[in-house]
Amino acid sequence: MTGQVRIGILISGRGSNMVALVEAMQDGRVPNAQVAVVISDQLQAAGLAAARERGIETLPIERDGRKRVDHDREVVAALKERGVNLVCLAGYMRVLSSEFIAAFPNRILNIHPSLLPSFPGLDAQRQALAHGAKISGCTVHFVDETLDGGPIIAQRAVPVSEDDTVETLSARILAQEHDLYAEAVASLVKDDRRE
Ligand code: GAR
Repeated sequence: MTGQVRIGILISGRGSNMVALVEAMQDGRVPNAQVAVVISDQLQAAGLAAARERGIETLPIERDGRKRVDHDREVVAALKERGVNLVCLAGYMRVLSSEFIAAFPNRILNIHPSLLPSFPGLDAQRQALAHGAKISGCTVHFVDETLDGGPIIAQRAVPVSEDDTVETLSARILAQEHDLYAEAVASLVKDDRRE
């Protein structure tokens, strides 16, 4: 892909991974890319204010009470209107429809708080503790029709301690998520420029 990479970030909540990506673009760590819009499927997502404070356009598109395809259609239209050509899910807690995935072939990324394919789905950190995992971590992957099952782009491991709680393990993983997501997007954008 030639030209500017325009990133749309989808969130549902706190948005700390979104902030990490925005800051990486604003610091020049991802040359030739910019965040075009942050969309939330939850009107009250704290990440919306965090994005606005950083000068990013925000767009709440509420999902409650709507069919997945109708909601996704509106999100895809909003992304396309803004010229988005790379979509980053950042704590977006909704599975995408096949229509959404087909609208951005190989151009949708997700970050997940485990070493996939272990512990897909909700509460990945709790699952890791419940299984007695000694190592966990985070994964950036392409989004396809499977739940957290698309091809892996990058991973980072963290140790799990005997006395970890969901909170302590989540915090250790989250610090790595922030670095890893920005790194993975930077390397993808670099590859785009070579094409
Ligand atoms: C992050 O830990 C992210 O990996 C996870 O939700 C959290 C969102 O935090 N995502 C998933 O579990 C997706 N299956 P954030 O809103 O502060 O980025």
